[in-house]
Amino acid sequence: MAGQNRIRNAQLRSKIMTADQAAALIPKGCNVGMSGFTGAGYPKAVPIALAERMNAIHAAGEDFKISVWTGASTAPELDGVLAKVDGMELRLPYQSDPTCRKRINAGEMDYLDIHLSHVGQFVWGGYLGKLDVAIIEVVGIREDGSLISSSSVGNNKTWLDCADKVIIEVNHWQNEALEGVHDVYYGTQLPPKRKPIPILSASDRIGETGLRCDPNKIIAIVETDAPDRNSPFSPPDENSRLIAGHIIEFFGHEVKRGRLPKELLPLQSGVGNVANAVMEQLQNAPFDNLTAYTEVLQDGMFNLLRSGKMAFASATALSLSPEAAEEFNRDVAKYRDKLVLRPQEISNHPEVIRRLGVIAMNGLIEADIYGNVNSTHIRGTSIMNGIGGSGDFARNSWLSIFMTPSSAKNGAISCIVPMATHVDHTEHDVQVIVTEQGLADLRGLSPKKRARVIIENCAHPYFKPALNEYFERAQKYSHGQHTPHILDEGFTFLSEWQADMTARDAWKADSMVQADAWK
Ligand code: COA
Repeated sequence: MAGQNRIRNAQLRSKIMTADQAAALIPKGCNVGMSGFTGAGYPKAVPIALAERMNAIHAAGEDFKISVWTGASTAPELDGVLAKVDGMELRLPYQSDPTCRKRINAGEMDYLDIHLSHVGQFVWGGYLGKLDVAIIEVVGIREDGSLISSSSVGNNKTWLDCADKVIIEVNHWQNEALEGVHDVYYGTQLPPKRKPIPILSASDRIGETGLRCDPNKIIAIVETDAPDRNSPFSPPDENSRLIAGHIIEFFGHEVKRGRLPKELLPLQSGVGNVANAVMEQLQNAPFDNLTAYTEVLQDGMFNLLRSGKMAFASATALSLSPEAAEEFNRDVAKYRDKLVLRPQEISNHPEVIRRLGVIAMNGLIEADIYGNVNSTHIRGTSIMNGIGGSGDFARNSWLSIFMTPSSAKNGAISCIVPMATHVDHTEHDVQVIVTEQGLADLRGLSPKKRARVIIENCAHPYFKPALNEYFERAQKYSHGQHTPHILDEGFTFLSEWQADMTARDAWKADSMVQADAWK
């Protein structure tokens, strides 16, 4: 797309206006589908203008809220500003914004936490109500009116298909050379008309490079020049390095036993620093020609692509640090034949994940001794972020790995617990758990055998005696012996242990080694 003029459809140029003018076109109480996925490709001007308008209306004593649907998490310029002015009635399908989280947990805002592959079909089926307005960031508009997504695709196709009205943000910061990176598939249907998704390898292209959009639906075009949020990653800490080391050693064993090919299988790597650290460490691991069929592409994976260790990556969004984003932006053309960005109903499609045999690696908040995983709720009641794509990948992958430091909050809370206070991934969807302490391969193990290996290999030494004590007593007193539990104590046992300073001090005195481990 040549030069400064990114709006090549002459008829649409007449719709250019300011963000304030565009925000004024959004009615109170409507459902708004916005682009954006993990801080990439979200609209950067209209939500801010809308929040200012809401604020003024609230100050005049009137109510003004909307429901906000996106691909996944966004950024302070979207979730942050709208949550601060109490402008959201309902948010879906994923968020990670501190103000949003606070409002949700205070009961001031509704939140639908949805498998990311399900969102499109729920909207097409009409289960979430009518989509009134779509606000989509693009790098440009072609002569024929089709749109070029920016650094994420997410639910853009669904929003443009389903919304009554469309507002476009053309962001000049995003490199126009992104044209050609996207692959937008228009063959998805609702049952009973569904056909196979024809992806046989991570690099297959099955769709179009642009997004179709009826030009008559476009009510405003706003030009911006603003970077994606692009949070930096912390350098891998000791725990992340140890977790990455355990996973890479495990991959080595699996390759030696002939259970994984030497280039592994397509990798999916969740959000966050630990996932990024695993990708960073693969740089020096003895596996080449790696591929990824994943949701987000973070720095670690970008570095694998850059060095040639990874041959190809399929995702729905970039999630790069400012330095990596700058480098990618400078050199987008270089990555065009190594990278594809797809709609999230395809990047996270169970059929494709199962067919390709993806290796899924995601974070967790707590895992119980039988392998049930909580990815979303603190103490079973307060949302952290959401399930995101972790369920899409964990249940359908070839190998489902969950990773976490063994304790949280400076060692005060064990991430291995007797009974998970909320379950996102059942024991049936969790094959491997890894902490800095070690790795538990749960495949082929019955519940009690799983408990022994999880406690032994993954629990922090400080919490191991308490977990073992619970497990032993459960085997004595539990009504059933298949998955022994003491139901009255399942949720309280560890917190009592944690709160019992006397027991903790006595235990510390007992073992200098363990005391050293307690921080
Ligand atoms: N109890 C209380 N707090 C806990 C906890 C526990 N058992 N386990 C983790 N936490 C807190 C941490 O202390 C940290 O809090 P802080 O932000 O105040 O420092 C926060 O949760 C994040 O934990 P961290 O150890 O830094 O891990 P992370 O950044 O890898 O995040 C998840 C872990 C589970 C929150 C994150 O992976 C997630 O949101 N997962 C669900 C969605 C997902 O998997 N998406 C990828 C699919 S493609």
